[in-house]
Amino acid sequence: MNEPSGDIKSMTLYHHVDRVVNELRELGKPNDEPLRVGELTPFDQLHYHSTEAVDEAIRATGIGEGSSVLEIGSGLGGPSRYLAATSGAAVTALELQEDHHRMAVDLTRRCGLVDRVTHVCGDFLTHPWDGEEFDAVVSWLALYHIPQRAILLDRCRSLLPVGGFLYAEDLCERRPFDDDEREELASELFANYLPSSDRYRQDLADAGFEVLVCDDMSDDWTAFTRGRLDQYRQQQDRHLRVHGEEVFETMCGFYTTMVRRFSDGKLGGIRVVARRI
Ligand SMILES: C[S@@+](CC[C@H](N)C(=O)[O-])C[C@H]1O[C@@H](n2cnc3c(N)ncnc32)[C@H](O)[C@@H]1O
Repeated sequence: MNEPSGDIKSMTLYHHVDRVVNELRELGKPNDEPLRVGELTPFDQLHYHSTEAVDEAIRATGIGEGSSVLEIGSGLGGPSRYLAATSGAAVTALELQEDHHRMAVDLTRRCGLVDRVTHVCGDFLTHPWDGEEFDAVVSWLALYHIPQRAILLDRCRSLLPVGGFLYAEDLCERRPFDDDEREELASELFANYLPSSDRYRQDLADAGFEVLVCDDMSDDWTAFTRGRLDQYRQQQDRHLRVHGEEVFETMCGFYTTMVRRFSDGKLGGIRVVARRI
C-alpha cells in the first residue's frame, strides 16, 4: 500500500460535516454565538475515548504552556482545540479535507482560540513547512490514511528537535489481511498503510526514533466501538430528530463497519510514543 487508492470520501464518516451544524443548532447556538471547547467534545473528537486520549498525549509528551505542537490529520479540530485550551500549547492543526478544515477554522474562532490554534489545509506528505519546528507531533487515527510511511516519518523527524516527541494513535494489522480485505479497507476506511505492530515499531526505529511506548489498543478499541454503536442506536430518536435519517443511517453503517472490522480480530489499534534520536 504505497500509493493512495481512491478518494478519502469513500469513508462514510467524512460524508456529513453538516452534522456539526445540526449539533450546534441543538446546543441552541446555530449562528455566530461564542462556543466553549467542552460543549463541542461530544461531536468534534473523531477518535476513541474523546479528550481522555488527548490528556494521555499531554501526559506522555510533557506538552505544556509554551510548547509548540503539530497535529497531523486534525479533522474538525477537536483534539487541537482541547490540547491548546488544556495545556496552553500553541497548536498547528493540519487537515487534508477542505470541508473539515473550514468547519474547524470556524469552531476555533468561535471558541476564541485563534491565538493558540492555527489551522492549515494540506497533505502532510507535501505541505511545505519552510523550516518550522515543533516540540511534539501528535496524531489520532490519521496516519493509517497516509501512504509512504518512510516519507511520512522522515518529515516528522525533520519537524522535531533531537528529543522531540511523536505521539500517535493509529490503526494497524493484528492478523494478516488477504488482498480482498485490504481492498475493502482501502475503500471503507481509506486505509493506505496498515502494518503489523512489529513493523510499526521497526519503521519508527528505521526513521531515527526511539520507541518509548507501544501499546496494543485492539481489545480496548473493539470494546469501545461496540459501546459506541450500542449507544448510538439507543439514542436513535434523538439522532433522527437532530440529524435526519440519512445521517443516522450513514453513522450507524460506519459504526457497524468498525465493530465488524475490530471484532474479526484482524484490524488492530496501536498507541505509540517515540522520541527523535
Ligand atoms: C479519523 S479523522 C481524525 C481527526 C482528528 N485527529 C480527531 O481525532 O478528531 C483523520 C483525519 O486525517 C485526515 N487526513 C488524512 N490524510 C491526511 C493527510 N495526508 N494530510 C493531512 N490530513 C490527513 C483526514 O482528512 C481526517 O480528517
